[in-house]
Amino acid sequence: MSAPAVASTPSPAHGTLHKCGDISATPLKSSIVFSINDRIGILDECLAAIKALSINLTRIESRPSKTDDWDYDFFVDFAATSSDQVASVVKALEPLAKQVHIVGTAGDTLPESTPWFPRKMVDLDTFADKVLEMGEELDADHPGAKDPVYRARRAEITKIAKTYKTGMPIPHIEYTKEENETWGAVFNKLTTMFPSHACREHQYVFPLLVQNCHYGPEAIPQLDSVSRFLKDCTGFTLRPVMGLLTSRDFLNGLAFRVFHSTQYIRHHSRPLYTPEPDVCHELLGHVPLFANPDFADFSQEIGLASLGASDEDIERLATIYWFTVEFGICRQGDKIRAYGAGLLSSFGELEYCLSGKPELRPFEPAKVAAQKYPITEYQPVYFVAESFKDAQMRVREFATSLDRPFSVRYNAYTESIEILDSKEKVIRYAQSIKTDMLTLVDALQKLN
Ligand SMILES: [Fe+2]
Repeated sequence: MSAPAVASTPSPAHGTLHKCGDISATPLKSSIVFSINDRIGILDECLAAIKALSINLTRIESRPSKTDDWDYDFFVDFAATSSDQVASVVKALEPLAKQVHIVGTAGDTLPESTPWFPRKMVDLDTFADKVLEMGEELDADHPGAKDPVYRARRAEITKIAKTYKTGMPIPHIEYTKEENETWGAVFNKLTTMFPSHACREHQYVFPLLVQNCHYGPEAIPQLDSVSRFLKDCTGFTLRPVMGLLTSRDFLNGLAFRVFHSTQYIRHHSRPLYTPEPDVCHELLGHVPLFANPDFADFSQEIGLASLGASDEDIERLATIYWFTVEFGICRQGDKIRAYGAGLLSSFGELEYCLSGKPELRPFEPAKVAAQKYPITEYQPVYFVAESFKDAQMRVREFATSLDRPFSVRYNAYTESIEILDSKEKVIRYAQSIKTDMLTLVDALQKLN
């Protein structure tokens, strides 16, 4: 492709959905994930084991496993009457399936058609190693496809993402001389363009990354150091990922202020080209913006809207993500500047997007969400945001028009998602706002 960077979420969610019965009157809605091999009848045996416990299944989603050939991963929602019953489901499945995990249990009463979504930070562990493509497997036209040394190195690095769990420090990678030189070539080329093409927020943060995270042409910065820096700035953290996640999983991560980041680098033969996100794209394109509070809020807004959204709405939100976080440009005074990571990590498209050749349109989420886009060439149209705050408000307004009959909020203290589906929860939320308002009034009075 001519555009060197592809967004981390180009594909729509692709799970297979089945409806399997009615939810009970006062359910303890629970979700588990397990893997099975392709032995004939094994899924029937698993479902029969659950049915034998007199438990109603409400939803099953299947995906081909990317961690083991011919295996399938199943996400199963069911209505239990107690936590003991949830544990009994796990016990019944363990002799039949691999990697049986509880990924969520909640007493709320969401509609039974609601797709599973992570409620706690630790729930992200269930899909971090489930990738659509790239990662260890490379397409035939990938520059490194015929290089066994590069492929082995990729496998070595992606193994870290495969075994990573919430709360762990991100393992240090001892990058080779060749890898650091590839990074240096990209770094030197792009940093000549940032002063004239990158938005002011990117330009403000970049020197801080040089000071705090060893950004420079000599060596690839470590994700762990960068993640700690972001955490201090906006609460965003990085999480290593093997390759491209589904749009649903990737966007769901943003709701927790978690950005899934690759840790491997493009092939050294073509340092200014990559057909996929790599560590150059993440560190030079994405990271500087996640250190900006308004951009962090905007990104999380898209993530929160994606929780429990329908497949159609996930596609709309992924399109908005594409035209903003990946390929967004914004107005700053009388200038137009780039803030999308796909632009800021692509020498050619960064120049092209501000050249006056492509069509520029105002950022209106409903129209953006319906816009078709190519993933293997420069974008024919870009959407211009007035500011990140304005874009966030517009996305929030757009999110209320989506087909989701409940509201959510992120509780940063517990690192969990709250479903605002009862009077008690809404009152508790209102009380937390009231406390913040009292602090605000007190601060204003003292300023006066
Ligand atoms: Fe990206």
